[in-house]
Parts: sequence; structure tokens; C-alpha cells
Amino acid sequence: MANFGIIGCGRMGKNHAKGISTGTDGKVVAVYDPNPDATAFMHETYGAEVMPNAEALAAHPKVDCVIVTSPTYCHLEGVKAAVGAHKHIFCEKPVDRTWEAALETESLVKDYDKIFTIGFVRRYLPKTRRLKALLDEGFLGRIRFCNVDLPLGIFKRLYGDWFADFDKSGGVCYN
Ligand SMILES: NC(=O)c1ccc[n+]([C@@H]2O[C@H](COP(=O)([O-])OP(=O)(O)OC[C@H]3O[C@@H](n4cnc5c(N)ncnc54)[C@H](O)[C@@H]3O)[C@@H](O)[C@H]2O)c1
Repeated sequence: MANFGIIGCGRMGKNHAKGISTGTDGKVVAVYDPNPDATAFMHETYGAEVMPNAEALAAHPKVDCVIVTSPTYCHLEGVKAAVGAHKHIFCEKPVDRTWEAALETESLVKDYDKIFTIGFVRRYLPKTRRLKALLDEGFLGRIRFCNVDLPLGIFKRLYGDWFADFDKSGGVCYN
């Protein structure tokens, strides 16, 4: 049994909570989000304890692993809190918005003796793995130009959403 704490209870935080709770060996025990409606949902649905900040969540004695699903530009504060409390970490992709923050994250977890992983889920999808195999086999030849479109309707973006603000999200390097 592993106990999880979730920092950021929006679309992905809820998604991970659902996945954890669907399995038999995981439980969401604590959550933090500055939006009280988001934490209220997690408390009512999963019985998770609502924590006042990322540090308190990471330091919660029952939390084994911290899941960082806050907006991209806030990831570092969640990772810092989790490292400070010496917990396993799953951080959503991309690791952060800027190169500087990504490097700082790397320096925090480089010699870390707990698990730190980034949610590069698409690398593990069967179609992605097949494409990688075809590339490795040379079947597709040398790629000179590639355009990837991902029509995804499940994560609707609203006007003013941080996800649509280039200073807070996006960027070819990290996505
Ligand atoms: N792996 C994937 O396929 C996938 C898909 C979608 C999003 N993501 C990533 O997941 C992360 C979250 O995206 P989302 O779509 O869930 O965003 P979202 O906007 O739906 O949720 C973010 C939540 O974090 C909260 N928040 C804001 N500031 C915070 C802070 N400082 N500390 C803690 N919580 C804070 C917000 O109130 C909100 O509830 C992003 O990094 C995004 O790139 C990954």
C-alpha cells in the first residue's frame, strides 16, 4: 500500500486521484490546492486531508509519494517541498516552464535517493512505441520534418486559462 499526497487538484490531480483509487494498493491521503473548491472535491470523494500548503502536504507523516499536478510554472515549488520532506515524487510533464527551473529541478533530484519521475505518458503508448521501433529499424528513413497534431478534446481550455498563456505554459523545448 502506498499513500499519495497531491499538489494541484485540477484536471490531472483529479485524474491521478481516480487512477490511484481505482487500484487496490494506493490511497490519496492528503491534498493541497489554493482553490478550496478543488480540495473540497478531493476531501469529499477520497477522504483526503486538506493541507494548507505544499510543505505541509509533503511533510504529512502518511504521505509516501508526492504527486505534483499544479500548473507547469508552479512545479518547482512542489518538487522543492517534496524533496525537503524526502518523499518519492511524480511530477507532471513538462518538468517546468523555463530552462532555469528545469535545471534547478535537476540539481535537486540528481543524487536523490527516492524516486523522481516525470509523467511522460505518451512515450509508453503502444502507437508511440511502434513509431519508435519503426524509426529505430530505419523503416521510415531519415526524418527531415515532422509535424505532430494531437486533437484532444477531453482537457478543455478556457479563455484566460494558464494553459493558454505562453508565459506559464507551452514551449517547444519542454512539451
Ligand atoms: N500527462 C499528461 O498527459 C498531461 C495532460 C494534461 C496536463 N498535464 C500537466 O499537468 C499539470 C496540471 O495541468 P492541469 O490540466 O491539471 O491544470 P489545471 O489548471 O486543471 O489544474 C491545476 C490546479 O493547480 C492549482 N494550483 C494553482 N497554483 C497552485 C500552486 N501554486 N500549488 C498547488 N496547486 C496550484 C489550481 O488551482 C488548479 O486546481 C501541468 O503541468 C500540465 O502540463 C499533463
